[in-house]
Amino acid sequence: EKGGYDHFMLKEIFEQPKAISDCLRGRIDPDKGTVTLGGIDSIMDKLVNANRIIIAACGTSWHSGLVGEYLFEYLAKVPVEVEYASEFRYKEQLIGEGDVMIVISQSGETADTLAALRAAKERGALVIGVVNVVGSTIARETDAGVYIHAGPEIGVASTKAFTAQVTVLTMMAIKLGLSKNAITIKEAKKLISELAKIPQKIEEILQNTSEIERISNLFSYAPNFLYLGRSYSFPVALEGALKLKEISYIHAEGYPAAEMKHGPIALIDEMMPVVVIAATHHTNDKMISNIEEVRARKGRIIAITTPKNDEVGDLAEFSSIIPETMDVFSPLLSVIPLQLLSYYIAVNRGCNVDQPRNLAKSVTVE
Ligand code: M6R
Repeated sequence: EKGGYDHFMLKEIFEQPKAISDCLRGRIDPDKGTVTLGGIDSIMDKLVNANRIIIAACGTSWHSGLVGEYLFEYLAKVPVEVEYASEFRYKEQLIGEGDVMIVISQSGETADTLAALRAAKERGALVIGVVNVVGSTIARETDAGVYIHAGPEIGVASTKAFTAQVTVLTMMAIKLGLSKNAITIKEAKKLISELAKIPQKIEEILQNTSEIERISNLFSYAPNFLYLGRSYSFPVALEGALKLKEISYIHAEGYPAAEMKHGPIALIDEMMPVVVIAATHHTNDKMISNIEEVRARKGRIIAITTPKNDEVGDLAEFSSIIPETMDVFSPLLSVIPLQLLSYYIAVNRGCNVDQPRNLAKSVTVE
């Protein structure tokens, strides 16, 4: 049932080209520049007129929500707030008619996410689900929704659900951007043509994992890791750190790269591997300065970058080169080496990759 792979997690990492293709199938038309999402057709008017969007989720799904924030704000020019579902449910809920909540959940059964959705509905907001498991409680209770169609995810560490969630949020943001005239058909065509190429580009990354395996072997016994990224790469930094924590039990923190100088820089010395996600071109110069700051303190730089960002590649001690894409799609590629890094390190450390200690696949308790 693991299809020849040692673990479900590895199988699911390698399934991502197919999962993203399945997620895109029948929904995008690169020639026409259109996105079709049947599950939100009936509420599209409300989404177009929304004052703001609140995204609520937990864990990895919260990270894909953070990517969603950048996507909706950039492509559809709508203000977005991303909330931990567990925080939203117990705070002053300033949400009501005219607001839209998007809840993101792989399992569709996460207790805190379900509670956030119920609270938002009670106050009159429209709630849209981005869910994997068909017919799950969250899928049933939302007003509308888009399934991510990633197929069953068995490994406790979420991998293909993350990339498929980001894919759905991307399609939603393009669709909303078009409806709000925030992007033109010409821009949509360009975006959608590139989106259609993402499965193939993920495949390219998966075809050559030797460098990331080598890096994993060198750092398997590091006690700490720091992950840095800016813009679209910031949520990816958080996701990379979470993957490493949950399956390898190495302490890891993700930070927006510019925040480093407000505290975490004190941690950097020759014992500290720093994973730098330099995959967005518009932040490249700033990432180069951050890399120099880490190098000056003898931190060990592992860069996730692209051929065009060659200066990053030159400065970093190690680098994993991913294919070029538009900045908006970069999380779909840059997260892949991070999933692999955590996987290989966890295997080297003899950890139970698919069922890490203390964790359950779906968290149905508060
Ligand atoms: O099923 P959900 O997407 O609602 O689950 C949310 C989190 O529990 C989940 O993403 C968790 O953080 C994963 N173990 C991360 O790999």
